[in-house]
Amino acid sequence: MQAMVPGISLSRFGSSRLARHNIVRQALRASEQRAGNVGACHSFTKRTYGSFRKGFLPVTTERKNGVEGLGSHQIRGAQASAQTGGSGPGTETHGGDDIHRVGQLVCDFSVTTNALGPVPSAVEATRSILASEDNWVSNRGGDVKAILDEDETHVMSAAAIEHYPQREDKELTRLVAEFFRPDGDAATVADVEASLIFGNGASELIDLLPRSAPQGPYYVSPLTKTQYKEYERACEVSGRQRAEKVEDASVVAIVNPTNPTGDFVERLEMENWISANAVPGSWIIVDESMLFWAGPDWHKRGVSREFVQRMQKRDIHIYLVYSWTKIFSCTGLRIGSVIAPTPAAMQELQAKQVPWSVSVLPRTYLKAALQHKEYLEKTWRLTPQWRENMITKLKRLHPDWQFLGQPWTSWVWIDTGNEAVAKAVYEASLECSCPVRHAAAGYNLPTIVRIAVRRPYDFAVLYQALLRQEYASNNPGRAPLGTYADVHPSVVEGVELVHIDDLYRHEKVLTDREGKLNDYVKDLPLLTLPAIIVDARHKVVIDGHHRLELFRQGGMTIVPAVFVNYEHDDIVVNPPEVEDGGVTKDMVIKKAINGDLLAPKSTQHMVRSRGGSLMPIIVLAPQIAEIRS
Ligand SMILES: Cc1ncc(COP(=O)(O)O)c(C=O)c1O
Repeated sequence: MQAMVPGISLSRFGSSRLARHNIVRQALRASEQRAGNVGACHSFTKRTYGSFRKGFLPVTTERKNGVEGLGSHQIRGAQASAQTGGSGPGTETHGGDDIHRVGQLVCDFSVTTNALGPVPSAVEATRSILASEDNWVSNRGGDVKAILDEDETHVMSAAAIEHYPQREDKELTRLVAEFFRPDGDAATVADVEASLIFGNGASELIDLLPRSAPQGPYYVSPLTKTQYKEYERACEVSGRQRAEKVEDASVVAIVNPTNPTGDFVERLEMENWISANAVPGSWIIVDESMLFWAGPDWHKRGVSREFVQRMQKRDIHIYLVYSWTKIFSCTGLRIGSVIAPTPAAMQELQAKQVPWSVSVLPRTYLKAALQHKEYLEKTWRLTPQWRENMITKLKRLHPDWQFLGQPWTSWVWIDTGNEAVAKAVYEASLECSCPVRHAAAGYNLPTIVRIAVRRPYDFAVLYQALLRQEYASNNPGRAPLGTYADVHPSVVEGVELVHIDDLYRHEKVLTDREGKLNDYVKDLPLLTLPAIIVDARHKVVIDGHHRLELFRQGGMTIVPAVFVNYEHDDIVVNPPEVEDGGVTKDMVIKKAINGDLLAPKSTQHMVRSRGGSLMPIIVLAPQIAEIRS
C-alpha cells in the first residue's frame, strides 16, 4: 500500500496504465449500455454550448458511420465521395456535407468560411426582423360579432415572413457597391450599383451565368491545378462541352484566389492573361469570393472596373462573382453577388433569374455585416495567425507534408503525398467530429486534404486526434493513451494536492466494496489508482469515496485530486437517462457539508464531452494523468 500513487505521478506507458484504462473502459461500457436506449439527438456546436443542458447523446456506431438518421440528401455527398472519388453533373460533393456524417459536430474544418463565425451584429439584426410580430385587433368598429370572433383567433403578423421581399433592395445594393468601391466617387459607386445582381448564394449565379451566356464550349482556368468545381457542373448542365483551348470557348471560368488550391494571381497578371487569351464574344467569369481575406487593400487586387470596361469594348464580357457566405460565415442563409460588365448585361441576367431568390433574412444579415467594420479587421489580423498556428503544429507532426496557399486564405491545402495518409486524416477528423475536406471527393486528388482555418481552441481538438493517430501508427500494438476525455476546458480547474481531512464526503462507503478494491489493488503490477474528483469550490468529493478510503488506510494523507467546476452544466449527477433522478448537485453539496451522508453509491456523476457524449466522471482523472505525465 505504501507505494500507491493516486493516478497522477504515473509510470511510463506500462501495464498499470493499461489496467487503469481498463477500469475506465469498463465504466464507459456500462454507461453506454445504460445510455443505449436514449435516442434524442441534440444539435450541438461550440457556439451553443452555454444553452446546451440536459441532452444526453451517446454517439452510436451507426451514427458515427453516418447512417442513422440521415436523409438521402445528407449521405449523398459522402457516398459519392467514397464511391466515385469525383464529381459529375448533379453529384458535386462539398465539404459542408460531412458535418452531417458526424454524431455531434465539434467544429467544421471542411468549409472555407470565416473562422470568426457569423457576424454578431448581423445575427442580431436578422433575429430582430423575426421578432416583429403583432397580434392586435384594431378598434375600427364594424360588425361586433365579427370582431368578437376575431378576438378568439390568434392572428399573427410578422412582416419579414409573410410578405414578399422588395424586388430591388436599394439599401443593400448601395451598401454592397460602397463596399466594393470604398474610395470611389458617386459615379463609380452608382455604376457598380447598376451592375449588381444578387443570388441565393453565389451558387445560384454560378448556375445562372452559363445558362445565359452565348452557346459554345467552356474552358476552365489553366492558372491553377484545380478549382471550385461548380463552374464545370453548371456549364455541363447547361449543355456545354469542355474545350481544350481557350480560343474555342464561349465561357471561361476562373476562380481567383483559387479555392481549393489557394493559388492567387495578382490583378495585373490576371488582366494580362485575359487580355491575351480571351476571344471576342466570350464571357469570362472570374470568381473572387476569397479575395476579401487578402487584407484592407483587397479591392485593389482583383480585376478592375476599368479593365472590365476596356474589355467590353473588345466584345469580351467579364462577370465578377462574389460569395458572401464564406467571408461572413453564413452558408445557411445563402447570398452572393455578380458584378456584370454593364447595367444592361445585369438586366439581361436578371430577366433569366427566378424572382425573389434572395429572401429577406440574408439581405438583412448582409447589410449589417457590411457595416461591421471591426469584423473584417479582425479577420485580416487573426486568420493568418491562426493559419500559421495550425501549420506550425502540423509540420511538427508531418515535416514531409506540403502546405499550400496564400498565408491569408481561410484554409490550408495540404498535400500529404500519400493517399492512405490523407484518407486516415479525413477519417480521424470525422471520428473527432471535426470534419476536414478530403480532396479525393470532388477533386479526385486523393493525397490532399483541405483544412479550414479555425481558432486554436477548436484546432486543438483536431490536432489531438491527429497526434493520437500518429502515436498509434508509430506504436502498433501499444495500448492507447487511456481515455481521452475531450471536455470543455472550463470543466476542470486543475490538479492539486489536498489533505484528505480537508475533504467532505457526500456518500457512505460500502465496506465490502472496499474489500474488493483492496483485492483489485493487490493485483495491480504497479500500484496506481485514478485520482479522486473534487468540487473545487466546496472541497466535496464528487467521485472516489472508496479510493479515498484506500488512501487513508494506506497512510496517505496528502493526495493529488482533480478539481472540477462542479457547477458546470457539463457535469451532471444521476441523469435521468442513467439513474433514477431525485438527487441534485445542490443536495450533494448540502449533505456533504452537513455530514448527512447519502447511502453508498447513491450518486453517479457524469461529464459531457465536447462532442456531446456523457461519460463517467472518472474519465477526467486519466485525462489529467496522461497530459501531465
Ligand atoms: C470560390 C467559390 N465560389 C462560390 C462558392 C459558392 O458559395 P455560396 O455559398 O455563396 O453559394 C464557393 C463555395 O465554396 C466557393 O468556394
